[in-house]
Amino acid sequence: MFTRRTLLAGAAAAAAAPLLPGRLFAAGPEAKILEAAAARVQIAPEGYPQTEIWGYGGAVPGTEIRARQGDRLRRRLVNSLEQPTTLHWHGIRIDNAMDGVPGVTQEAVPPGGDFLYEFDLRDAGTYWYHSHNQSYEQVARGLQGALIVEETDAPDVDREEVLVLDDFRLDPETGQIAGFDNMHDFSHGGRLGNIAVTNGVFNKTLSVKQNERLRLRLLNTANARIFQLQLQGLEGWVVAFDGMPLEVPQPLPETLLLAPAQRADIIVDVTAEDGGEAHLIRLDREEALSQILFEVKGRASESRRPAPAPLPPNPDMEVAGLDDALRSTLHMEGGAMRGFQSAMMDGRKVGFREAAQSMNFWAMNGMVGMPDEPLLVAERGQTVRVVIKNDTMFPHGMHLHGHHFREVLEDGTLGPLRDTLLMFGDETREIAFVAHNPGDWVFHCHMLTHAASGMMTRIKVLA
Ligand code: C2O
Ligand code: CU
Repeated sequence: MFTRRTLLAGAAAAAAAPLLPGRLFAAGPEAKILEAAAARVQIAPEGYPQTEIWGYGGAVPGTEIRARQGDRLRRRLVNSLEQPTTLHWHGIRIDNAMDGVPGVTQEAVPPGGDFLYEFDLRDAGTYWYHSHNQSYEQVARGLQGALIVEETDAPDVDREEVLVLDDFRLDPETGQIAGFDNMHDFSHGGRLGNIAVTNGVFNKTLSVKQNERLRLRLLNTANARIFQLQLQGLEGWVVAFDGMPLEVPQPLPETLLLAPAQRADIIVDVTAEDGGEAHLIRLDREEALSQILFEVKGRASESRRPAPAPLPPNPDMEVAGLDDALRSTLHMEGGAMRGFQSAMMDGRKVGFREAAQSMNFWAMNGMVGMPDEPLLVAERGQTVRVVIKNDTMFPHGMHLHGHHFREVLEDGTLGPLRDTLLMFGDETREIAFVAHNPGDWVFHCHMLTHAASGMMTRIKVLA
């Protein structure tokens, strides 16, 4: 509401403004605003208090962004938080300047500031956007949302659901998000929540029909939880991982693992009977819990349909030239139980105990946190192979910005395109990609407390 005083001040300012010459062309439409701000929402079940979150558009997950492949996306980030922030567009093969990494591609946007993000969407698929500043806190508080880029040739399904899987750590008394100074979260598997949610609510329910065909876009936006998913009363195929279509849809495995930041597009048919129930099940230790309940009401058709066709491929995704690739190794050490002998931190050699005093617990190639020198420098268009050795006791979800990679499997064949690789303790794996996108690209663990306490490096692709 305007007061009389501000109205008058506005009128005076208008009168004093100098006249501008007429514009030949009108400026383009103003970019839509994505405001990062605190809000109160109901995350815990009814009867519990509301939770203060930080979100985009007053919700968690934030406003869904939906566009068509080939569109140009424009969003003005407005920072109404008390911390600086940025937006990162996870999985998008983006211009480096729009990647949203503070200190690498831009300065963080201060409280009260704004920043225009603008880029082309070359690829269709299931992506997401999130804060990339103080991420272990800002993403956990809710600064995240789905970014859906639709294919021009949409698959033949009855309907689609975007399902953002996440967890929160709430104080059951007050309903508020617990603090971020827990040393265990940094030095062990990461910050796990005590309430798992879908699209920001506990015990999500959807109603479906028998034989209905659904496209489920599953996203894991949790800080550290690896979702172990099973289906009951639903059967189908994985058609894409991390936004990128599989050449051939794969029957769903018994258990689908989704590491933090990973996505899976699945096409499923409702096989449960009319009047019955289907579930997306989450395994938690030995327990099978219903993450999503599908109530089956009515029948969509008499019988099931044949397997779906693959989604149309995204452009220029071939990973060739493996034999002449630029090779590199990433050696991960640290964490509770093992630590490391010594590593470089802020230009000094430190032991594990000393690093731990400043909440740093992980090293990559003997460096704690972002190194001065990139892990590798590639020519534009060069094929790159990176062997990743996880010398820790914990799983990590390694995410490369600006590119998708394929895993080089033991038999020499290539795995599906991904932007985030789930690695378990003591595993050694190898990825390969074409360094097609010039710029400085961070490569980090998406267990966000790990990224904040040492597991962050970068690669450079020359222009
Ligand atoms: Cu999803 Cu570096 O981020
Ligand atoms: Cu990690």
